[in-house]
Order: sequence, then C-alpha cells, then structure tokens
Amino acid sequence: MSALLKPVEAFLAREHGLFIAGDEGSAASGERFDILNPATGLVIATAASGGSTDIDAAVAAARSALPVWNATPPGRRAELLWNLGVRIEELADEFAQLEALDNGKPLSELHIVDIPLCASLFKYYAGWVTKIEGETIAPMSGAPFHIYTRREPVGVVGAIIPWNFPLLMCGYKLGPALAAGNTVVLKPAEQTPLTALRLMHLMAEVGFPPGVVNLVTGFGPTAGAPLASHHDVDKITFTGENATGQKILDAAKGNMKRLSLELGGKSPSLVFADADIDAAVQGTFGAVYWNQGQCCIAGARVFVESSIRDEFLDKLVARLDEVVLGPGIEAATNMGPLVSAEQRDRVLELIASGIDQGATLQAGGGSPDEPALSNGYFVQPTVFTDVDPTMRIMREEIFGPVAMVSTFEDEAEALACANDTAFGLAAGVWTRDVKRTHRVAAAIRSGVVWVNTYGWFDAAVPYGGFRMSGFGKELGREALDPYLQTKTVWVDLS
Ligand code: NAI
Ligand code: MG
Repeated sequence: MSALLKPVEAFLAREHGLFIAGDEGSAASGERFDILNPATGLVIATAASGGSTDIDAAVAAARSALPVWNATPPGRRAELLWNLGVRIEELADEFAQLEALDNGKPLSELHIVDIPLCASLFKYYAGWVTKIEGETIAPMSGAPFHIYTRREPVGVVGAIIPWNFPLLMCGYKLGPALAAGNTVVLKPAEQTPLTALRLMHLMAEVGFPPGVVNLVTGFGPTAGAPLASHHDVDKITFTGENATGQKILDAAKGNMKRLSLELGGKSPSLVFADADIDAAVQGTFGAVYWNQGQCCIAGARVFVESSIRDEFLDKLVARLDEVVLGPGIEAATNMGPLVSAEQRDRVLELIASGIDQGATLQAGGGSPDEPALSNGYFVQPTVFTDVDPTMRIMREEIFGPVAMVSTFEDEAEALACANDTAFGLAAGVWTRDVKRTHRVAAAIRSGVVWVNTYGWFDAAVPYGGFRMSGFGKELGREALDPYLQTKTVWVDLS
C-alpha cells in the first residue's frame, strides 16, 4: 500500500460527528456506523448515524444562515468558493487517499477526474456569484409601470448524494447551490462519507459562515428520507438510483419542493465501421469500465456495425489484459473493488441472470481468484455477447464492470438499438462520417452525446438526463437555474 499521509492517518483516527451550525457533534441517538475499506472489508473509521432530530436541527441551522449568507457581499462569497477550490487542489493527495480508501477507486482516476473537477467546480461557480442578474422589462401595453425581476435563491437545499463520486458530487451540488445564495443540508452516502466530512473542516478553515453548509451522515431511510420530506426544505438535489428518486418525488409533494434528480442510465455506445477502431476500443473501454463501471453514464450497451464486430470484440477483450485489479490506494492499480458487498452481490446477480438468459461470456464473469483480493468486493471486468434486448442485463442498470456487445447492420438499426431503453442519460458514437455525426446526435434521445470520445466533463458544460434519467441540469450556467427563482416586481409610476 502507498504510505498514508500523516493528515490522512490522523483524520481516519478522529471520531467524526455531524456538522450543524458550525459545530461538530454526535447524532441525537448516539448511534454510529462503520465505514469499510471495500478492498479489504476492514473498518477504517466510524461515522455518526443521523436521524430526523438531527435533520430538523440541520435544516433550522441552514434556515438561520440564509440571511447571513445573502448579506455576505457577492465578491466575498465568490472569494470563499474560489478559495475552497484552491484548497482542494492543494490537498489533492490527501483527498485522493481518503477517497481511495473509502470508495476503492484508483488514485490515478481520482487525480485525473474526481479531485481536479471538484476543485474546478468551486472555482467556476465562484465566477457566477457576481453575475446573477435580474432584468428590466418595458411594458408592452405602454402603461406606466417599472417592471423588473430579481433572481432569488430558492432557500434551503437538501443535497442527497451517492457513493460513486463522493467528493465530486459535493462539488456538483454545493457549487451552484451556494453561488445562487442558498444554504445546504448535505447527506452523503452511508458507504462513503469521509471526503464530505473532510470538506466540512476545509469550509470552516476557508471561512464559510457557520450553518451555510450542514452535514448529516447516516442512512437513506433514517437520514435521507426526513430531509426529502422536510417542510422547511425548499429544494432537494439528488443523485442516485431511480427507485430512490421516485421516493423523493413522493416525499417532495408535501411542500412542493423544487427537485433536481440525476438518476440512472443504460447508455449506448455505437461503433460504425468507418470509425478509428483502436480509438473506439479505447474509448469504449473507458465508457464501460471507468470507476469499475459504477457510473450513471456507463456506455455499456455496445452496438458495433456487423462488418467490424470480430475485430472490435477481439481488441476490447485484449484491452482487458491491461487491467490491474487491486486496492485503489496502490499505485499500480487501475481497477478497484466495487464500493460494497451489497453492490458486488447485485452485480454478480445480474451477471448470473445474463448467463441464465443465454448471453455468452467472452471475459470475466465473477470475482477474481487472487487470494490477496478475496476479502475485497472485486468483480472481474466482464464482456457479454449474444445479448438480446429483452435480457435484464440489457434493460437494468448494472453499475459494475460489464459490457454487452452486439451488432447492427445500418444507421437506422443502430439508432433503434440506442433508443431502446427507458433511460436517456448519455451515448457514445464512433464514426468518421461528419454528416452521420450530426444526424445521429440529433436522433438519440439522451441528455449527452459524445462523438469519438466518451465521458468528458467540464464545469462549464451542462450535463443531465432525459426521460427516466431525471431532470434538472448540472454543471455550466444552466445548473444555476434550478437553484434560483425569479420574482417579478411591478411598480406603478403613474
Ligand atoms: P441510492 O439511490 O439508494 O442512494 C443514494 C443516496 O440516497 C444515498 O445517500 C442514500 O442514503 C440516499 N437514500 C436512500 N434511500 C433514501 C430515501 N428513501 N430517501 C432519501 N434518501 C435516500 O443508491 P444505492 O442503494 O446506494 O445503490 C443502488 C443502485 O442505485 C446502484 O446499484 C446503482 O444502479 C444506482 N445508483 C446510481 C447512481 C447514479 O449516479 N445514477 C449512484 C448510486 C447508485
Ligand atoms: Mg438504495
């Protein structure tokens, strides 16, 4: 194992609490839960198990901090967000080690995506704080009115986040929420609370006023559900599974909460015969296996034009030889364990269903044999062929390292395959035909289409799904809108 940094060791040894109104304290129940290293199954820390009493206190703290945060001059709020981004960059090694231990993902991936993108989000949204403006509207009737709009924060935001990109999701939610002037109650995933906890210390150090962001660790039914149904919460922003998103929809109706729901996907990768095949193999490999396949955007339904199917499949399977399965904290690892035993079992059950329903395994298919990995939640990178659209592996989100490779004959069939899903998050298209690029991008029913690449994100570029993949864009200028509400003011000048 890479040697742990001293501050990481010290942080793991702390007794972590909840953060409410700037104070760290225990849960009202006094209960705690274990945080496991998914590479070993061993306990690395414990966290406080928050419940509805703690959520009430956190929401009250966020409500009290709202006027304070709004009275903070925009230039100062921008500075705080910017400085937070800078500090995350400075502490990249520390955050990477914590996340690798908590989630299992490789350090290399953390240094390429999770940490720099998170830092860039705080810096990007720092720029917006001073640019949220209303409009003056000249009355069409010619009546003597002065009419203007104010862009106001929605108020108290509950942010419920998943375990697949724990620190990064904090940036997705907190960046635009805080830039728009809201205060927040953050509920990290019970599997991976450590980097969110570390972020709370950092926000205090940077100088965010107490209560602007409050954090309640705990489980979905006991900490997430009371936040989602709380009548003094104005908006919920959620990323996670569809069934949970539907519960949050129900819970939100009591006080007509605003919602942003970033849910699952079943994204296609389309590889046309005129593509650069090596680039398509490399890109599709990333589309399927990045983050051990635990990505809502995973482009794991791979449709290849039949004339190049064998070459593509051979190269994709050969690419798996470069996979080094191991603990994320080890420098040589390029694929880690899944996040939990539960997630590993869910993925293995879906793989078994694929075999039962007649798909052919071309690679992987189970847990690795290496004794060193036997206590971790590892799953081999897996490739299926002979899949058909009715199989569970072709319809349900797997959220593990599993590719389903099948073929199409022409563009129309490729599009029909791509759109044969209730989800609509993302798609990959590999072709050298410029005209086809734009035809296909327009015809795919998904929120993102990557052409001759896959999985790029940038703070400035909107991201989010169509259909069952949810609503409420994240990233970019558009992501501010769901955190703002427009007030119209009419002044009679007659
Ligand atoms: P989940 O959606 O249940 O958990 C995500 C967050 O929601 C966690 O913070 C959890 O504590 C919270 N939560 C759970 N139940 C809640 C409730 N009733 N009210 C409010 N908050 C609640 O996801 P889970 O169970 O960890 O994973 C199950 C599957 O969901 C995965 O196999 C994967 O298919 C999918 N998933 C999708 C993600 C995405 O990025 N689209 C992220 C995580 C999971
Ligand atoms: Mg769940």
